[in-house]
Amino acid sequence: MNINDIRSQFPILGEQVHGRPLVYLDNAATTQKPQRVIDALTDYYSHLNANIHRGAHHLAAVATERYEAVRLQVMKFIGALSPDEIVFTRGTTESINLVAASFAKAYFDGDDEVIVSGMEHHSNIVPWQLAGATLRPIPFTDEGVLDLEAYERLFTDKTKLVSVCHVSNTLGTVNPVQRIVEIAHAHGVPVLVDGAQAVSHLQVDVRALDCDFYCFSGHKMYAPMGVGVVYGRDRLLKALPPYQGGGEMIEEVTFQRTTYNRLPFKFEAGTPSVGDVLGLGRAIDFMQEVGVDNIAAHEADLLRYATERLSSLPGIRIYGTAPDKAAVLSFLVGEAHPYDVGTLVDQLGVAVRTGHHCTQPVMDRYGIPGTVRASFAVYNTRAEVDAFFAALERVLPMLQ
Ligand SMILES: Cc1ncc(COP(=O)(O)O)c(C=O)c1O
Repeated sequence: MNINDIRSQFPILGEQVHGRPLVYLDNAATTQKPQRVIDALTDYYSHLNANIHRGAHHLAAVATERYEAVRLQVMKFIGALSPDEIVFTRGTTESINLVAASFAKAYFDGDDEVIVSGMEHHSNIVPWQLAGATLRPIPFTDEGVLDLEAYERLFTDKTKLVSVCHVSNTLGTVNPVQRIVEIAHAHGVPVLVDGAQAVSHLQVDVRALDCDFYCFSGHKMYAPMGVGVVYGRDRLLKALPPYQGGGEMIEEVTFQRTTYNRLPFKFEAGTPSVGDVLGLGRAIDFMQEVGVDNIAAHEADLLRYATERLSSLPGIRIYGTAPDKAAVLSFLVGEAHPYDVGTLVDQLGVAVRTGHHCTQPVMDRYGIPGTVRASFAVYNTRAEVDAFFAALERVLPMLQ
């Protein structure tokens, strides 16, 4: 893996912030985009813009063909069996809301429990509450490891679904999804996996995981904002009612009654974000060219190095020390407020996240208001980790 070659593909990495070279360590919030993904958008709007599936004209036909080609690409990328199992959405949030709303309509009977993990993003909590479910959270240890024995005890005859993150955006824990699925299936309960933080770091194989739904966002894997995916097992998607009504999702409409389109179009009402989907295709090309295993190894090295450096700071507390972790490092130092740390290192060109990271229950679990979070991507370097620590060493004495 040639890091200089990779960095040269991301124009934003040449930017200066407050007169200093940008050190971008907020990749769990969103990743930067390689030139080919940016070009996919300008190419689409410069040469191809047309609404898909509907027009008889040339542009509509080519745009449709390219859009559907990305569906096949996504299918192969995550190991799905059929393009019918790939539904395009706006992002993970919409993907989970889609499954929650449709699943509830099909299977909830007024007394329903959904098992989630205690480390979920709000977007894997609130949709289930909106759907009327009672949540049963799986507890986790101080290190950030799920307690699977406690998990087994959460199943009741009201459990309708298990919905867990593959990788925690706050703690970095890679959850044992395969085992979680095995246990749920032994109870006859399907599983949704929130893969928002996993797809850019690990090789995801939905058939090996044997999960029933897998949701993710393009923008966290080098693709544009505005596109996401629900993978759903064919049989389950067929059984679910549509999420939204509108164009494209129908077969026949009268004022009396409507019949619905086949999969996956039944779940894609209205005009999709075609340019963003084409950008997702280019992002997958980029990741496959670099190699997902190479990305994972590079990020693991950065995480190890940053953890070592961080551990040498006096008063450091790292949140999330599970043995199996992806590229996220959450911490607090002494009495310094995370927001102050984030604002001051920003003045030195370093972008990190501060706050609760949309996981307030995780903050409650540790009794803290928030953390500083550095998160890594394929283009980050050890030199950037050094720049981050140089910035921390400068600002921390001001905050103690
Ligand atoms: C674990 C997890 N789930 C869901 C989401 C929501 O993703 P999006 O805002 O792209 O819909 C995020 C975003 O940070 C996340 O980290």
